[in-house]
Amino acid sequence: MLADALNVRVFASELEAASSCAALVANAVREKPSLVLGLPTGRTPLNVYRELVALYQKGRVDFSRVTTFNLDEFLGLPPDDPSSMRAYMERHLFQHVNLASERIHFLDGSAERAERECVRYDIQLASAGGLDLLLLGIGPNGHVAFIEPGESLQAASHRARLSRESRQTVASLFGDDVWKVPPAALTLGMSALLQARRVILLAFGVNKAAAVTAMVRGPITPLWPASFLQLHGNVEVWVDSEAGRGLDGSR
Ligand code: GLP
Repeated sequence: MLADALNVRVFASELEAASSCAALVANAVREKPSLVLGLPTGRTPLNVYRELVALYQKGRVDFSRVTTFNLDEFLGLPPDDPSSMRAYMERHLFQHVNLASERIHFLDGSAERAERECVRYDIQLASAGGLDLLLLGIGPNGHVAFIEPGESLQAASHRARLSRESRQTVASLFGDDVWKVPPAALTLGMSALLQARRVILLAFGVNKAAAVTAMVRGPITPLWPASFLQLHGNVEVWVDSEAGRGLDGSR
């Protein structure tokens, strides 16, 4: 029997996984108050952010020295656009905890020159020493951050053309109107994800099952970008039974 390259942990419910994940983040901050944290958007981490806010309100975690880098941003949207990923983070986490604004980092979707903005972001991340802990979600098509499936993938931060499927995934940020979702985004590249010292990837629900199976058991291929995480060595995949159902039984 072959062992999986990724450690999979199946939780009884999405809520249980979210509160364990928030507790893990809080512990990591206690152990290293200047933690550099990589953060995703999407529906998946919402309960984690809610739990982190609750832990902060109870005085159980102090974010004052923590640095954050978000994974991606829509191209063309300024940070204060209510549909931007930056605005999402403000609503669900940043406004409610004591992160220092100068230690919150984001790709600027409204930057005039996208390529230059990506280089700036990679330099900023490298200067911070890379990510200590990275939380990830996964798209039903196997994308992580906005590293989209294709014939090849890019190591560095880059501009990504969004597939229709990925635009559908984030349509809720645009009043459920997929046509309002920008056609492109800026995203961290695979190199930043693979260099993170520890990764927790969360996936819940049956529509993530195919992507989870391809990521954990499939060949490493840019057609399923998350499969590159098999090369990492310190990735935990936290799923509920629905997202993990393709992994039943040994390989
Ligand atoms: C978006 C983000 C990803 C996220 C994915 C899944 O496209 N760029 O970082 O993991 O969607 O979203 P959800 O958690 O809503 O299923």
